[in-house]
Order: sequence, then structure tokens, then C-alpha cells
Amino acid sequence: MTLWGGRFTEPLSQAVRDFTSDPADRRLLLVDVHGSIAHVRALIAAGLVSGEEGQDLVAGLEQVLVEATAGGFVYEPTDEDVHTAVERRLVELVGDVGKKVHTGRSRNDQVALDLRLYLHQAATGRMGDIDRLVSVLADRAEEVAEIVVPSYTHLQQAQPVSLGHPLLAYAWMLLRDRERFADAAARIGVSPLGAGAGGGSTLPLRPEVAAAEVGFDTVFTNSLDAVASRDFVAEYVFACAQAMTHLSRFAEDLVLWSSAEFGWITIPDSHATGSSALPHKRNLDVAELVRSRAAVVIGDLVAMLAMQKGLPLGYNRDLQEDKRAVFHADDTASGSLAVLAELLGVIEFHPPPPAPETVALLVAERMVSRGVPFREAHQQVGALLTRLDVDGRSLGNVGEKDLEGSAIRLADVEPSDPDEAARRLQSPGSGSPQSVLAQVAEIRHRTNAAQPG
Ligand code: ARG
Repeated sequence: MTLWGGRFTEPLSQAVRDFTSDPADRRLLLVDVHGSIAHVRALIAAGLVSGEEGQDLVAGLEQVLVEATAGGFVYEPTDEDVHTAVERRLVELVGDVGKKVHTGRSRNDQVALDLRLYLHQAATGRMGDIDRLVSVLADRAEEVAEIVVPSYTHLQQAQPVSLGHPLLAYAWMLLRDRERFADAAARIGVSPLGAGAGGGSTLPLRPEVAAAEVGFDTVFTNSLDAVASRDFVAEYVFACAQAMTHLSRFAEDLVLWSSAEFGWITIPDSHATGSSALPHKRNLDVAELVRSRAAVVIGDLVAMLAMQKGLPLGYNRDLQEDKRAVFHADDTASGSLAVLAELLGVIEFHPPPPAPETVALLVAERMVSRGVPFREAHQQVGALLTRLDVDGRSLGNVGEKDLEGSAIRLADVEPSDPDEAARRLQSPGSGSPQSVLAQVAEIRHRTNAAQPG
């Protein structure tokens, strides 16, 4: 028997039952019960159930909670969704009074509440996952602060910087992702309970009581908006998709860095994977999978937006599919953050030094410091590199003779190895080892301050 069988005279086709019910929402079991307890408390406050009935309902729901927590909650094949299952079980446990639980409520506001409760908690989880990865990034950056590598633009060696600098670039991206989860949580934490099917209720409901019971400070102000809108889900998926996009970029760098051509990192056997055909290979499959899972999460975001765009106002069953998208996005973000934190912890760094010509900007800026216009300095250093190229030489071993007829002085080119160039970076936020250490301190300060309690 379905919940809604009253006006139906024929049993539901098995094919329709199979097609319309989706066990994906079973993840909402615990929050569904918590939401129902809050709803019952609001019903008591509004005088819609007596204190005694309310007590029985809460006791029954608490029993459901025990079953749910112990993993012993049993679904029946006829349970259309998690909400139906909980109500069915409640009636089994407490008898007829259980039939009062849905007073002034619809699954339309119920499912919106459940999802909000679930995602509010999930956001805290992802923020914790980000904190863990950021903390490993900061630790590793501190450790390798003195190792100098080229920074890249257009995948060409650009300027010598501390190896900690690219690592921390990812830490800063992730800290903004963390803020996005916090921002999303603020808009998620609005209770839709009391919106009913979408138009509200003729009963004197107390939505603010239910909101306070679930721990949300804010209540909906338009009942149609409350049941029909899923921008809070899309926003959560966006937070996941943007974080995954950052992780995917980081993964791509790890793949590059682990190649023979870069030779920056080695992955221990415990975290590399082999090739079934090529005995010598050590692949970084973890990073490759993060990269492609980011693509699927971007797909989840597109699905969330497309799902909403043509819906007539009000709840529509289309919205049932939001759960698959958001749970997938959330699980993928969580899993990727965790595995990359672990991987990063075991990577061995041994990058070769940057090419000698990466000190070209240092030479030009020394000239600028003594008053040469930058364009002129750029031109002169470029010309010097061309002259050196002829004998297969580069900056780093330049003598007086090489500078004849040039505006470049020996003091401009000496000392000019990449380590020196990285150490001399002094603009705020630049890639010097000192800047990396200052960034590490700032990141630790911010993440400690952001810890709850
Ligand atoms: N299972 C549905 C969902 O996930 C719950 C709401 C169903 N409401 C309805 N009137 N059929 O969206």
C-alpha cells in the first residue's frame, strides 16, 4: 500500500514502482528522522497534537533512530522513498497515533529539509577534509622551501621559485573552496518545514519552532520557493566542482612532475600503480582518476542546473534526481581530498634545478635598479642570450668579453644562479623561500582560527 492510495482503485504497476523509487535517498534516513522529531515538537507547540500524542510520536521516532543508527532499519519493497519508509515504520511501532506525524507536512517540504540538514553537515565534513589537505600542503611546503624549481607560464620555464610556492598556490585555492562550503552552508541552513506541499497550511503551524529544533536560525518566507528551489543544492555541487577542478589541476601537475621529463617527484610503491604490459612503469593512477572524476562532478553541476531550468513552479518529481548528483559530487570531493592528502604526505621531492636562462629577469631587473628602462634591459638580455646560444652557452657563466658593446654590466649577471634569483624575489606574495615560510605561517594561523571550538 502506498502512502497516497486513498483515491486510487488499482494497485501500482511494478514497472512504475521500480522506475519511480530510488534507494539513493536512504542516506537521508537519519536526518529524516531528526526532521520528523522537530516537526512533531512544532506540532506540539502549535497544539496540533496533544503532549501525550507528541511524546508517543517522539518515542517512536527515537526508536526508529536506534534502528537506523544500528543499521537495523528494514525497508519494505513497497516503501516509495525514505520518508514513506520512516512513516510506515513509525505506525508499526506506535500504532494509529503515528498517522498524525504527517500533519501539516508534505514530502515536498520534508525532502527539502532533509537535504538541507544533510548538506549542512556535509559542508562541515568537506571543510575538515580541506583543512587536512591544506595542512599537508603547508607542512610539505615548509620542508621544501629551500628547494628551487622553475615556475611555469605556457609550460615554459619562467622564473626560479621555491618549490613550496606551487604547493601553496594549491593551498590558497583550497582555502577559498573551504570558504565556498561555509558560504553554501549559510544559505543551506534555512528551514523549509511548514511550507507543506507548496502553498502552506490552514493549520496554525509554527515553522520557527521546527527550525529552532533542527538548529537552523532562519525559516522560509515563501512556501513555493521553499519546496521548489534547489539552488542550495546546485551551490553545494558547485563548491564540490570547483574544489575538484583545483584538485584536478594539482593532479595534472603531479602527473607531469612524476614523468621522466620533469623528474621532480617519486611516488613510493605503496602509492603508485604498475602497467600490465610494461615492466618499468610506475603510474600515478590516483592523480589521473582525480582528474577524470572532476569531469564527472562538473557533469553533476550541469545536471543540477539543467534539472531546474524548465520546471514549472512548485515541487516536481524531477527534483528527486538532485540526490544522485549531489551525493556523487560530495563523495567524490571527499574521497579525492582524502587520497591526495595521503599521497602528498609520501611523495619524495627531488627536482632538478631550473635552466640557467631562467635568471634572465633577475639580470634585467638589476639593470632596471640602476635606471635602465625595462624595455631596453629586456632587449639587451635577450640579445645576450642569443649571442651565448651560438656556442651553446647560457647565463650563469658570462664574462666581461661577452658583455662588450652591451649595456649589461658584470654586476648585473653575477651572481646569477637560479637559487640566487629565487632568494632575491622580494615583492609581497612572491616565490622566495622566505615568502613561502611566511605563507605557511599565515595558512596555519587561518586554519587554526577556523577550527570549530
Ligand atoms: N522522493 C521524493 C524526492 O526525493 C520526495 C518528494 C515526493 N513528493 C511527491 N509529492 N511525490 O524528491
